[in-house]
Amino acid sequence: MDKIAVMDFGGQYAHLIADRVRRLGVYSEIISSDSSLQDLSRYKGIIISGGPASVNDPSSPQLDSRIYELKIPILGICYGHQYTMKSLGGRVAKGKIGEYGLTEFTVTKNIGIFKKLEKKSYKVYASHFDTVESVSEGFEITGETKDDKMSATANERRKIYTVQFHPEVTHTECGQQILDAFIDITGATRDWSIDKFIEREIASINEKVGNKKVFMLVSGGVDSTVAYALLAKALGEDRIYAMYVDTGFMRKDETAHIKVSLASIGIKSLHTEMAGDDFFTALKGIYDPEQKRKIIGDKFLEIQRAVAKKLNLNPSEWLLGQGTIYPDTIESGGTRNADKIKTHHNRVPEIEEMIRQGKIIEPIKELYKDEVRMVGKRLGLPEEMVNRHPFPGPGLAVRCLCAEGADELTEEEKKKITYHGPMGGRYIGQTLPIKSVGVQGDERTYRHPTVLIAAKPQKHSWEELRLIAPTITNINPRLNRVLLKIAFQGDKEEINSVSVTPAYLTPDRIKTLQAADSLVMSAIKDEKEVWQCPTVLIPLSVNVEGEESIVLRPVSSQEAMTANFTELSWDKVRKLAKDIMKIPGISAVFYDITNKPPATIEWE
Ligand code: XMP
Repeated sequence: MDKIAVMDFGGQYAHLIADRVRRLGVYSEIISSDSSLQDLSRYKGIIISGGPASVNDPSSPQLDSRIYELKIPILGICYGHQYTMKSLGGRVAKGKIGEYGLTEFTVTKNIGIFKKLEKKSYKVYASHFDTVESVSEGFEITGETKDDKMSATANERRKIYTVQFHPEVTHTECGQQILDAFIDITGATRDWSIDKFIEREIASINEKVGNKKVFMLVSGGVDSTVAYALLAKALGEDRIYAMYVDTGFMRKDETAHIKVSLASIGIKSLHTEMAGDDFFTALKGIYDPEQKRKIIGDKFLEIQRAVAKKLNLNPSEWLLGQGTIYPDTIESGGTRNADKIKTHHNRVPEIEEMIRQGKIIEPIKELYKDEVRMVGKRLGLPEEMVNRHPFPGPGLAVRCLCAEGADELTEEEKKKITYHGPMGGRYIGQTLPIKSVGVQGDERTYRHPTVLIAAKPQKHSWEELRLIAPTITNINPRLNRVLLKIAFQGDKEEINSVSVTPAYLTPDRIKTLQAADSLVMSAIKDEKEVWQCPTVLIPLSVNVEGEESIVLRPVSSQEAMTANFTELSWDKVRKLAKDIMKIPGISAVFYDITNKPPATIEWE
């Protein structure tokens, strides 16, 4: 099968490029920048992607320059554009003006990757400070922007093309056509499709499983259900043992609902393990998010082993099945240049070891969420099941923040800051003494949020908040989230006191969270824009002592690698907050108005 390689420089873009290439029908793989020439020669085309480093920095990632002699078509994007120019004799320097965001690109020569472009000018997304100042020998300039006269180049003879902007980003108008033209140039056959994936995966499952059987952990979520359905199609249901673990961190009434829906797709003998007590005991006194995630991942495995032992299953005859998808691997730091953002429950060290030993089968581990859904539909799973909101393996445990006490804030951090919106809105920002996980500059962060409170009686405008929120995290990188105050007890408009109530994971707190989550889920059930909506319990008590707060986190996304906060109607938000404030022990309701990046979707 023909493949295109996407070389990863640690930027957030490689996975997006790989995804776009597949949508255009060609199998793509992300490879590391130190891949050998022999490895590289297996591909029909190579895309050198963007990355955060400067090519002039001696510690920036390097690659074997003989890559340009392989006679394989190459597309250099952003860092790849600059790297290619520099390696082949051109010059790259810090530009007088950087380009961050949308800019107007003009095609000056309609050749190579620009062959399919019909217009002269396009809006493109760029993000760079360094600029190419002279192009390499044999290359011609094929496009420019106002501030970058060498923003695209081509060497038709050697089939090497470069662009400064990002064609993989949906905001770049001509992006798909450029990638499409590059694929034509590589001559790769377009035989990646969901049907072909299913066909190949079934063959590969049979080869991998041989005459063994699969012990499959199902959660009722999209990923594990689709993985189960694929395994069942390949092996037959009799060779799969399905187990559902109720961790105690499920949504309200979730287990009953899941049992019915898993039965409806033909899982006849589902083993249900009620393990809530076990999980709560293991997590007693634990506050750190990564520690929580590891304990939960290990516990799943421990329970699976105990059940297998009780059933007298011979470990050498069984593989463990999981519904891992591609972003789980990336976020757990599973690709070479990627930072560990979070340890997903299916990527704890013991599982990694079992993968090395060939004891794990993960039939959809290369897919993104939207592709998983397509596979599910093709396998005939009910729409309701395939379109469910994603729900993380550790469940409400990663939506229930724990703290030993308030986080120390510096004098600087304690200062309140006034933000003026472009439409006349005025907000006071106050840093909160708790932390959540984010992803900034492709790295994991664990930082404070700021909360915005209206400085005067005013109507909120999404248009304005959409502009203010990213500015705050850009100018103050010590923050990774921005919240908007929705409700305080007694309809108060200001914060008189803030304290942190020491708390870890307990059944009572989960019950409080379940109650709030259930109100949120029924309020947003018809909101098509909402891709996922975590409701988060934070041990922050506002204007009273010893209580907690709720954060609403509706997001729109395609594959969870990036996400925007969803703008629900203010009437709906106010009504929902009013209902949540009736739950005993809740002192405030906030709305998370941060995109991913700089925040992640979940708080932990
Ligand atoms: P973040 O919070 O990193 O989440 O933006 C990206 C997506 O992954 C889900 N998620 C998980 N899924 N096991 C899972 O199966 C996990 O441990 C896990 N952690 C996060 C999250 O809900 C979102 O859809």
